[in-house]
Amino acid sequence: KRVLSVASESVPLLKTGGLADVVGALPGALAAEGWQMRVLMPAYRALRPLIAGWAEVFAEEDLFGGPGRVYAGEVAGVAMLLLDAPHLYDREGGPYNAAGGDWPDNAQRFAALSWIGARIAREGLADGWRPQVLHAHDWQAGFAPAYLAFGGARDVGTVITIHNIAFQGWAEVGLLRQLRLPAHEFHPGSLEYYGGLSSLKAALVTADKITTVSPSYAAELMRPEFGMGLEGVIVARAADVQGILNGVDETVWSPEVEPRPYSARRMKGKAASRAALCAEFGLEVPGPLAIVVSRMTDQKGIDLLPEVLPEFIRGGGGLVMLGSGDPALEAAMLALVARFPGRVAVRIGYDEALSHRMFAGGDAVLVPSRFEPCGLTQMYGLRYGTVPVVAAVGGLADTVIHANPAALAADVATGLTFQPTDAPAFAEALRRLLALHRDPALWARVQKHAMAQPVGWQTSAAAYAKLYESVLRA
Ligand code: ADP
Ligand code: GLC
Repeated sequence: KRVLSVASESVPLLKTGGLADVVGALPGALAAEGWQMRVLMPAYRALRPLIAGWAEVFAEEDLFGGPGRVYAGEVAGVAMLLLDAPHLYDREGGPYNAAGGDWPDNAQRFAALSWIGARIAREGLADGWRPQVLHAHDWQAGFAPAYLAFGGARDVGTVITIHNIAFQGWAEVGLLRQLRLPAHEFHPGSLEYYGGLSSLKAALVTADKITTVSPSYAAELMRPEFGMGLEGVIVARAADVQGILNGVDETVWSPEVEPRPYSARRMKGKAASRAALCAEFGLEVPGPLAIVVSRMTDQKGIDLLPEVLPEFIRGGGGLVMLGSGDPALEAAMLALVARFPGRVAVRIGYDEALSHRMFAGGDAVLVPSRFEPCGLTQMYGLRYGTVPVVAAVGGLADTVIHANPAALAADVATGLTFQPTDAPAFAEALRRLLALHRDPALWARVQKHAMAQPVGWQTSAAAYAKLYESVLRA
């Protein structure tokens, strides 16, 4: 059985967030379920050297103002299809924006990706491969199910996965024709969205099934606080909406493969990792050493850290933060370093290797998100016995068992959760963290349960396989 995954990023080729981790991990996870998945994404400038030796398997001469060619190859065991369209993707800068802001032609750039995805699903590749299911990810692939539905391709099943509804692929109505969308579909029941177009809405009204990356986020999306304007569309399709949790790649995220290996049964390596991390940043922390690995945006609640950290540090805690994003948030975090020398370290940037050292060496990982479709870092924390302290939203609520009296009595707690996402609730969770850490026996039990909690892909891959089966047409 064959499925085409259409997305704008995938590890190890390009990553700006968890989307890439998930897109890159799904093919391996689904292979175990008998589904052969190929991933279609743009050949951005940095990826063009790769395709030199690859076979051309699809072409279109006029893809929104220039030619588009699809090349097939394998990267890290994943069957990739890279769409080379230099007029759209061969430029200096990020996949969605450059220094000056979003690319002005993002609507065309990702409609082109979606268009080619839909054509491949309809016509198949030169090598004979044709999918039975098209799986679109987020707004960048949103028009793919729409092109299929409007083009009348009734033998391909379609799925749209919402990784983050904050990004909706808004475009002006004037682009309708240029984006090859039928004018008669421009009405509120179909393409129209607040007077314009939204590629995500286009998928939500045309795909056979809608998924998002946790059951709690699926429920939240039906409410105005989280649906961000699309809640009505999602409620209308409630019978076709399902939350399927992300997994993590347990071969990559495992304390057993770190430089100072450890496991639930032999935790000495964790103490050594902690000492090494403290030495690396010149820290001396008597209480729990917290870590944060995150994009610095409003979604992630980073602005709450300067409010709650002073009390946590007075209580004996410390922090290592790795991330980048909003300059004001970066500055606020850097100010804490000066204020609490030896207790707070902040590294602005993106550094995969450092993030591993942090999960291995930290005692707790903080994730104070305002909304979180799934979240991956709390799951890394579970794997590493780095106790997650998370806001009780979305996938965070679905993956961490709060150490409340009932969970402690049943001996199943894996971390701490708090709500709402504000400074008082976060501060109280950190007080609980300090108290938990002062009780070594209890702390060790929570760590042990965390490390025993399954966070791999197995359950979710089976759920996706079942979903694909349900949309098969022939
Ligand atoms: P989101 O996709 O919303 O950013 P996720 O938790 O799903 O949130 O995924 C974020 C991913 O990016 C994780 O794999 C995390 O470890 C990684 N990450 C985020 N910031 C950094 C950074 N500065 N350095 C290294 N890895 C990072
Ligand atoms: C988005 C969400 C994050 C999720 C990731 C992968 O970036 O913000 O919560 O884990 O997608 O699905």
